[in-house]
Amino acid sequence: MIISHIDHGKSTLADRFLELTGTIAKEKMKEQFLDQMDLERERGITIKMQPVRMNYAFQRHLHEPEGSLDPERPERSPKGEEKDLRRLPLSVEGGPRSFVPLRSTQDDKYILNLIDTPGHVDFSYEVSRSLAAVEGAILLVDATKGVQAQTLNNLHFAQKQKLKIIGVVNKIDLPNAQVEKTRQELAHLLNCDPKDLFLISGKHGQGVSELLQAVVERVPAPRLGHSEPFAIAQDKLREESQVSSTAENSPRSFIGLRPPQTVQAPKILQARGDDGVGHLCALVFDSIYDSYKGAIAYVRIFNGQVKRGDRIKLLAADQEVEVLEVGWFKPGRVACEKLQAGEIGYIATGLKEARLCRVGETITTRDSGVALLPGYQKSKPMVFASFFPHEDNDYNLLTDALNKLKLNDASLSFQPDASPLGRGFLCGFLGLLHLDIIRERLRREYNLDLVITSPSVAYQIALTDGTNQIVTAAANLPEWSRVKSISEPWVSLTVICPQKYLGPVMTLLADLRGTYQKTEYLGQDQVVIDYQVPLAEMMTDFYDQLKSVSSGFASMSYQLIGYQSADLVLMDVLIAQEKFLSLSRLVPRARAFSEGRRIVKKLKDLVPRQSFAVALQAAIGGKVIARETIPAMRKDVTGYLYGGDVTRKKKLLEKQKRGKKRMKSFGRVSLPPKVFFELLKKG
Ligand code: GTP
Repeated sequence: MIISHIDHGKSTLADRFLELTGTIAKEKMKEQFLDQMDLERERGITIKMQPVRMNYAFQRHLHEPEGSLDPERPERSPKGEEKDLRRLPLSVEGGPRSFVPLRSTQDDKYILNLIDTPGHVDFSYEVSRSLAAVEGAILLVDATKGVQAQTLNNLHFAQKQKLKIIGVVNKIDLPNAQVEKTRQELAHLLNCDPKDLFLISGKHGQGVSELLQAVVERVPAPRLGHSEPFAIAQDKLREESQVSSTAENSPRSFIGLRPPQTVQAPKILQARGDDGVGHLCALVFDSIYDSYKGAIAYVRIFNGQVKRGDRIKLLAADQEVEVLEVGWFKPGRVACEKLQAGEIGYIATGLKEARLCRVGETITTRDSGVALLPGYQKSKPMVFASFFPHEDNDYNLLTDALNKLKLNDASLSFQPDASPLGRGFLCGFLGLLHLDIIRERLRREYNLDLVITSPSVAYQIALTDGTNQIVTAAANLPEWSRVKSISEPWVSLTVICPQKYLGPVMTLLADLRGTYQKTEYLGQDQVVIDYQVPLAEMMTDFYDQLKSVSSGFASMSYQLIGYQSADLVLMDVLIAQEKFLSLSRLVPRARAFSEGRRIVKKLKDLVPRQSFAVALQAAIGGKVIARETIPAMRKDVTGYLYGGDVTRKKKLLEKQKRGKKRMKSFGRVSLPPKVFFELLKKG
């Protein structure tokens, strides 16, 4: 799979691989081919991981050193590794057969399964899941930007999964590329010889065929019936259980799995069938819903095989179904006769209840004795907002839409939320971009127009009666007099930037309510700064500001570390004397006045003008702390009258006045959805 920080060129490199392997015909090729959603193409970002199968003919005579961008690079396969470099050749029909040594005299044919992953921190859950389905990762670094925060994060994920990692410096064609500097940084990070890294231009293709050759040489073939994937998963579980015991208030759970200490040795190792291939054991790493074929599971087959008509069992859901179709990705779905161990493909289950085919599920056959594979650590939502349909009738449509999106986006969580705003759902997201993408998908794919509450983190509220509550929307806070104390989530924040931007970046960081931890150097020029800050400080336009003070060079990532008590107050927002529950928020007491002034000022630009003057107020405990007024938009209702009919004119003006009075007393000004995002911007 290809991993990197956002925009370092993953999808573009994938395009070149698709071309080189002839997976996509040249005339059908378009930029960032694997970004299939309209939304991905419009915004130029990858949101969903995308698997694709490529057939590759390894033509040794074409790949000898000539064409190498780095003549100094030594033979890439050290002698000692040769006997491990065994590959899975592709039979003419397309199925893997058996192991053969790599260094044969003829050209060899291989099946390569590639997964293109998103680079934005909000979609890192997609990356962590894809890693469990593959053997190796290409870690890409943009030569104009150097190592950035998600480079570190994704590398950490890949190392934990014990994948073979191939370091690549990309965009070497750009005039401002700092190739040597980036190569040194990446070598430092991977603890390898700089000459062992690849220098490529994903856009123009330099060095790409060599890289693809190296994938075949260096990444081990899937080991059939081997215990390693399970051993790794077990190690991971042990690690996770240690983390969860130290990180208070951050309980961890695994999909469909017993608590870590009770996990038994996976039975699959003993569960061999008569055919010698073993019983089917497949891990669901993604899934989508198809109106004809029901839930479609994207799987990595670890053992056995599966074909159309087989009866399979979804272990965690305890559901048996008949397979409607199996196939692989090109990247569209291509049906095939069977999928077998080592392959990545899909299984159409026909299940109409999307939620039964969850990511992390294990698929096997009835009575196979195969135990649940350790699933994925459940994603932890960072930010919450409630979605309410404008029309009450759309509630069922929203329920259905969220269930289907959830199947395609395992990091989305939601639960019914009945509040004064009506019937809706409290949804959990990995960040604000994630929230925005889901809102946009609901609008585009399901035609749903929604009211969205102010995004909020999850606060722990200790009540005077000794009980505790988790509150994810200020509108749902218990009566203020019953609140004894509030704790808020904190994150460890890592910012990476070139040294020359250290000053402005530190100034920006000092504005957060955080504590400085340490600064380290990465290579000669890049600085890594560690802070601990309240998560709420990240739910603003902090990232945009960071980019702006560093001319786009700084990057960040963060991880939840626990809860700390906070001195917060509840701020209400009134528009035309009406309390807008969706805008209520908890704010730091020390910043309450400036925050109140900022909000009403922003609202003045955002709330559409009405035919009556609209008062905008911020209030704490019933006391108004900031106020602005939007003047009335006076519509000339007498415009079309001309001539001297004064009584008619007067009558119309009277009618307009009465209308305004009524609107004032009903008073509901409807807010455009973008208000909630705009209010988060501090700038
Ligand atoms: P996310 O999935 O959103 O993280 O982005 P990505 O890593 O897939 O990057 P993508 O392939 O979308 O490329 C980002 C931008 O960099 C696009 O405008 C590409 O055309 C450009 N780009 C990618 N590789 C190269 C390269 O080798 N040279 C040049 N000059 N531009 C490149």
